[in-house]
Amino acid sequence: MTGVWVRTRAELKAQRRRRPHRCYDHILAAPLWPKYGVNLGTLLRTCDAVGACLVVPRRPWIDDALALGNTLRQASCVHRIREPLDWLAAARDRAAIVGVELADDAVRLGDLPAARRRTVLVLGNESDGIPYEALPLLDTVVEIPMLGTGLSLNVAVAGSLALYKLAGLI
Ligand SMILES: C[S@@+](CC[C@H](N)C(=O)[O-])C[C@H]1O[C@@H](n2cnc3c(N)ncnc32)[C@H](O)[C@@H]1O
Repeated sequence: MTGVWVRTRAELKAQRRRRPHRCYDHILAAPLWPKYGVNLGTLLRTCDAVGACLVVPRRPWIDDALALGNTLRQASCVHRIREPLDWLAAARDRAAIVGVELADDAVRLGDLPAARRRTVLVLGNESDGIPYEALPLLDTVVEIPMLGTGLSLNVAVAGSLALYKLAGLI
């Protein structure tokens, strides 16, 4: 391919926001039962890219992990909540709740429409997935098709793909 110009850091910087987006409270990525801090840092970076907020339970190790894993100069919007199940139950009143999980009758990622109202994207625990008790609180479940031998994707990869689709950027 000819005529390809790979943008420089200076050009990219000029195209980006000068400050992190404010809390739009429109798309919320919710890894509510996280196990590995590194995945939170990755998700936070995707949230910044698509203009979403990150929702995490209030735990000392999670703040440390976010500080460590945040490779952005300025952190994006993070909501810290107390009890994941209580928060999710309350969020249902004013948001669509979309679970990202490998589940029967799930919507394929390609068929997930962009979010037209406030949407919470629920991500499961790295070992156990979304807890059984949380499943009745989901309005929709989206699954990312896989062809390989691995049973599942890394949760930050799965969350990032779904965030891009919900944000309407792919
Ligand atoms: C490592 S997976 C756990 C998978 C599985 N539920 C289990 O119990 O082994 C962690 C999380 O990543 C997300 N995930 C990974 N691969 C996915 C896929 N192909 N489609 C939808 N979600 C996926 C889900 O949120 C899942 O709960």
